[in-house]
Amino acid sequence: MSDTDETQLEARLADQTEFEPPESFVEQANVTDPDIYEEFEENWPDCWERAADLLDWETDHDEVLVDDDEPFYEWFVGGELNASENCVDRHLEDRGDELAIQWEGELGETRSYTYEELHREVNECAAALRDLGVGEDDIVTMYMPMVPELPIAMLACARIGAPHSVVFAGFSADALATRMNAADSEYLVTCDGYYRRGDGLDHISKANEGLEGVDHETTTVVVDRLGDDLDHELGDDQLDYDDLVADYEGESVEPVVRDAEDMLFLMYTSGTTGKPKGVKHTTGGYLSYAAWTSHSVLDVKPDDTYWCSADIGWITGHSYIVYGPLALGTTTVMYEGTPDYPDKDRMWEIVENYEVDQLYTAPTAIRAFMKWGEEYPEQHDLSSLRLLGTVGEPINPKAWKWYYKHIGNESCPIVDTWWQTETGGMMITTLPGIATMKPGSAGPPLPGIDAQVVDESGEEVAPGEAGYVTVNKPWPGMLRTLYRNDDRFINEYWEAYSDEEADEWVYFPEDGAKIDDDGYITILGRVDDVINVSGHRLGTMEIESAVVDVEGVAEAAAVGGDHDMKGEAVYTYVILEDGYEESEEMRQSIVEGVEDGIGPIARPEQVIFTPELPKTRSGKIMRRLLEDIANDDDLGNTSTLRNPDIVDDIQEKVRSD
Ligand code: WTA
Repeated sequence: MSDTDETQLEARLADQTEFEPPESFVEQANVTDPDIYEEFEENWPDCWERAADLLDWETDHDEVLVDDDEPFYEWFVGGELNASENCVDRHLEDRGDELAIQWEGELGETRSYTYEELHREVNECAAALRDLGVGEDDIVTMYMPMVPELPIAMLACARIGAPHSVVFAGFSADALATRMNAADSEYLVTCDGYYRRGDGLDHISKANEGLEGVDHETTTVVVDRLGDDLDHELGDDQLDYDDLVADYEGESVEPVVRDAEDMLFLMYTSGTTGKPKGVKHTTGGYLSYAAWTSHSVLDVKPDDTYWCSADIGWITGHSYIVYGPLALGTTTVMYEGTPDYPDKDRMWEIVENYEVDQLYTAPTAIRAFMKWGEEYPEQHDLSSLRLLGTVGEPINPKAWKWYYKHIGNESCPIVDTWWQTETGGMMITTLPGIATMKPGSAGPPLPGIDAQVVDESGEEVAPGEAGYVTVNKPWPGMLRTLYRNDDRFINEYWEAYSDEEADEWVYFPEDGAKIDDDGYITILGRVDDVINVSGHRLGTMEIESAVVDVEGVAEAAAVGGDHDMKGEAVYTYVILEDGYEESEEMRQSIVEGVEDGIGPIARPEQVIFTPELPKTRSGKIMRRLLEDIANDDDLGNTSTLRNPDIVDDIQEKVRSD
């Protein structure tokens, strides 16, 4: 940003703490009646019929909510539907020739699918998977980058009633194996590679390495993305996607009728303890909720071209690239590559070329755009934009205002949407056609969402005080359980604030927050051992176990430290075994260990060798202290530690690195 511009922005926007939705937006918004909050509260849980009504049901539900066995809630019970039918078939009549997916590869090639074409592709893929032996309720793993075959395969699975489990392509071979084993998944759809900054990146070797760690027989289908840019040979039990699907040309597969509560997909995510958690989402509740929030918050209309720049390998991509937008019959944009290739205006070029109406991205990306400068968006006509959104981590007011001015031209509302893998869809954010926006604060809970900010004992905190987010009522998009682990589901999310005796069930998302006088919630970040790197959730335990697996490492602690671009970065503190010395090679093998164990996103920012870790008298590692050291914050009183002397030494090392 140039100096004069910076000054102008500062002067005009810096002091402004509240922004009204632009009139031009309100006039056309999907939801504009402020009474919706009251209406939902008074009619709860029947208010959720409104979400269900956005879908086509084979059989209508008998009951909106069944809560006989809390916290195992059931939504739209008795209802029957198929997700692929809702995302594809039902649009054929009116919108068959309209675009469903607009894909752009990093090298600039494009592929687009009308609803008619998507229908054909999904059917052929469904027929192929079915004949490979995939049956209803068999879990199909997908380990794929951002290629069109990913949403096609997801919808094909949905069509035959096989839940998918998508593993982010940036995750390691180990991560793939762990997830396939945990889900007993016998089928894998993967890809030979993808382009990153112009280079063809080998992905299939990583997939194959992962498969070696799978403890049962598998069948793999491989999409050929790189053609001649990567030679790969298919192993036994591996099939080429195009060859396979070619055998089913023109074939159609009747969508399997699924109960509302049947599983649509699993998504593994990080939590406090070691193993990733298999979050289970259902067909009726999840899909209704993804559609409803796309309609009310993202203001998606069938004629829009909508772009969420997340990766489908995360929940944001599931809900807001695939299921929500396609359920509403809109055009969803998918981009394969990085935002700065071939140049830093790539995002804006895409917005201009496709005349994107809504852009949904992450604060970490906005911070990068800010750093690159507004000259990049200025090269493009962004006037098609109507709404902007953010997700994944808190957005600071400065980045919010930059986004508002330089991307939205001060004429698009911004929705700062707080939610989680577990919630299925957005929970806390402003309704863009109704509410005042306050940069830095996500906003009030959505209609029908009973969220508050409480202290340790569950009492609501006074405005301005820090507390924890809790949700007191269930909602249709909520996870139903952790796959094959009901106990952990209860421990992780319900035990902290529920009163089982009184049968009062409170969901605990493990985020800190504060609330203001108007009920706007500002999220402060995770309160469990999860690090949020560029909006990506990583468990400290997973990182630590990858570090401890490195030869010569005796003990390790991983914490999140503040980072200008990534929001948080990983700091690892390492104790070496006797006979091993601190060295650059050792540091390198630890970094590689984390990349191999989890993936490059978890790469430690700093590896700090220390003879001891600060521990409480009962022997627990003082993570908070390690975080403060990483952030160079005031450490307060450390005299109650078992080994207070170590703190100065560690602090010294972090500062000098
Ligand atoms: C964080 C991503 C502040 C939060 C959809 C949450 C946010 C975790 C926001 C979930 C936001 C997400 N403001 N923090 N608007 N959105 N978070 O499961 O800590 O990958 O618990 O889901 O991201 O991450 P997950």
